[in-house]
Amino acid sequence: MLTKFPLILLLCLSLFYCAACTKTPHDGEKGSDVTIVFTHGKIPGDYEQFKRILRQFERENPGIRVADRTLPSSTDEQHQFYVINLDAGSKDFDVLSMDVIWVPEFAMAGWLRDVSGLLSESELDDIFPGPLEAVTYMGKRYAVPWYIDAGLLYYRKDLLDDIGAKPPKTWDELVRTARLITERSKGIYGFIWQGKQYEGLVCDVLEYLWSHGGNVLENGKVVLHSPENVRALTFMRELIVRDRVSPEIVTTLVEESSRHIFGNGRAVFMRNWPYAWNIFERDGSPVKGKIGVAALPSAAGHPSASTLGGWQIGINRHSKHPDAAERFVRFLTSRESQKTLALTVGYKPTRRSLYSDADLKRQQPFIASLHDILLNARPRPVSPYYMMMTQILQPEFSAAIAGIKKPSDALMSAERQVQHVLGVRP
Ligand code: GLC
Repeated sequence: MLTKFPLILLLCLSLFYCAACTKTPHDGEKGSDVTIVFTHGKIPGDYEQFKRILRQFERENPGIRVADRTLPSSTDEQHQFYVINLDAGSKDFDVLSMDVIWVPEFAMAGWLRDVSGLLSESELDDIFPGPLEAVTYMGKRYAVPWYIDAGLLYYRKDLLDDIGAKPPKTWDELVRTARLITERSKGIYGFIWQGKQYEGLVCDVLEYLWSHGGNVLENGKVVLHSPENVRALTFMRELIVRDRVSPEIVTTLVEESSRHIFGNGRAVFMRNWPYAWNIFERDGSPVKGKIGVAALPSAAGHPSASTLGGWQIGINRHSKHPDAAERFVRFLTSRESQKTLALTVGYKPTRRSLYSDADLKRQQPFIASLHDILLNARPRPVSPYYMMMTQILQPEFSAAIAGIKKPSDALMSAERQVQHVLGVRP
């Protein structure tokens, strides 16, 4: 529950990371070759495909090599790594991938190079507005949107067809359908999602708050303790203890653990980001051909809401190779690389025109239907203080979902603390 981020693990990671850096070839080792270090989270699925893209960059840019370093998949752990290293003025990495929620904080701290000039006007017009806003701080852009995420409902087409059910539009329909199927097929969970205490939980909870008509901030006012939010958080708890469609272990799940359960055919419904689809459709996958994807359900009378996620590429202000780093950022976020990453790794492009690309539509027919979900995905508060807010929200939401606090108490406590952080009077 109230665990702190695994600091020890992170410190070890920093030490390991620095040891690894000493093996990286530096400038001048081989003529005028430059090696840029690219840090990023764990690549889901086929890492070799990702490596191929890096090698393509090296072929197209003789004299520049890319050493890539993988950090843990958890966004919270990556954030700790960057805060420790960037704050210390580390020059050990040049290019970094950043969660959509970090850029204003990193930009305000002066840790990133201004990359406003990297994209042309027509490219900017093509990029989804949400990620573009997230990389902008005080009128300048400090990263280039790389891939976009939004919460989706994955469902087992075959199991729904067996009982003649359609993908649910409301949360109550989801509960009914999940119960009907789990009563017939024992040993399968109804609905799994990300319930561990971490950033992913905040993403999930926001989708319930919004789809019940609630919110976190409105016109600068903290509105966490509202009847809508209490209903939403109560509903999440009831999924586990009253409706019993979500197992207790949902409070330990993150994206990858839920993806494994669903991918092994052990759940009817799952909330997750778009990347999972490519993995389910690979040869040998137990659920290949059996998966449908839809917008998340909502409470009756309210629209569906997905949290905006995704990752952006920026440059360490202390990079010793800013020109090579800029070339790499341009390459990795280009239309061509985004298309390749969509086809291989499953990262969804931030360039909107790719959603009508013929190859992508042929290989991932659901991509066209994702466009509007991604366009309407709702951002977490875009603020340099977001990480302080989420560190308040995570334990409070977790306590409500685990049944340790009443939803109303958790929301009231979260509201007071967020007001304090934002300096807003109650
Ligand atoms: C995904 C999203 C990111 C979010 C994270 C939460 O990586 O892209 O925005 O913060 O999941 O676990």
